[in-house]
Amino acid sequence: MPAAAASFSPSIGDAESSRPRISHPLEYSGSLNSYTHSDLTPVIGTEYSGIQIVEILKDERCDQIIKDLAVTISSRGVVFLRDQDITPQQMREFAEKLTTIAGCPPSSTLHVHPLTEEGSELGDQISVISSEKQKTGGGLTHQLSDSSRLASAAWHSDISFERVPSDYSMLKIHTLPPTGGDTLWASGYEVYDRLSPGMAAFLETLTATHDASFFHDEARRLGNPLRVGVRGSPLNCGGELSAVHPVVRTNPVTGWKSVYVNKGFTKRINGVTKDESDMLLQYLFNLVTQNHDAQVRFKWNRNDMAIWDNRSTWHCATYDYAEARAGDRVCSIGEAPYLDMRSKSRREALMV
Ligand code: SIN
Repeated sequence: MPAAAASFSPSIGDAESSRPRISHPLEYSGSLNSYTHSDLTPVIGTEYSGIQIVEILKDERCDQIIKDLAVTISSRGVVFLRDQDITPQQMREFAEKLTTIAGCPPSSTLHVHPLTEEGSELGDQISVISSEKQKTGGGLTHQLSDSSRLASAAWHSDISFERVPSDYSMLKIHTLPPTGGDTLWASGYEVYDRLSPGMAAFLETLTATHDASFFHDEARRLGNPLRVGVRGSPLNCGGELSAVHPVVRTNPVTGWKSVYVNKGFTKRINGVTKDESDMLLQYLFNLVTQNHDAQVRFKWNRNDMAIWDNRSTWHCATYDYAEARAGDRVCSIGEAPYLDMRSKSRREALMV
């Protein structure tokens, strides 16, 4: 735990190797102020123009700029960078620097998705997001199906089924339909802030089980073995795609509390009856999907990039097109989720 007052320890939260390397929130130094940017909503999403990630990688102030980007991504939830001229390998290089500078545990690196094909063309750590692959059952995300016709069924945060889940994801979309295919993000900080003090205090005592066993069926259908080796942390390995995490977690970069359950992967709140778990999860999922003022919707142009913090946001792709849509995603591994009882809510910290 980064702070002495941490009152909650998830099952593996005391493992040295899964703790963040920072013990205090990171501070923004102002190195991004000269770039044109605008906040897309009051609570989530900032768009920059004139930034090229590959130029940052060459800049003599590289580490400082990346630190400021980490603070901005973690506080605004998601950052959008238009028209990036960057290869998948450069995305990997940047993602490794971002997670390291933001304080990931020494043993955390880039994730290998359990469905990634061995020997895949772009390398293990690049997930290809592709509507064509999705049609054949190779999707990493959730689509409308016979079991649900609700577009909101696809809200999730990346790979929360891992024992040490993701801090950041970056996605570049290079192939787009003529219209449609937007992505939405929602703020976990804002959802926390919409809880009554009594409900927040209760949820802070609870853990939830996240599970992606359905990837076993997907792997069988694809005829590819599931990746059971190390997936970005020595604690993420084997075929059990299930983990227990606190329902409310602290983001170490901001020090703010966020709700950390998601419709895609969270199956059960522990320590209560199944009926109570279903009711609580449904209420929390409703706060995500029904509060459009806690969301931002991004309309992609070719080669735009989004970088988001999975610890305190959810996202949802929109499957409203028939043509091809594709991109590359890199997902880094952060720390084992924990709740530091000294951490604040976003509104409390910003006094808004
Ligand atoms: C994802 O869920 O990580 C991909 C989102 C998208 O395709 O817009």
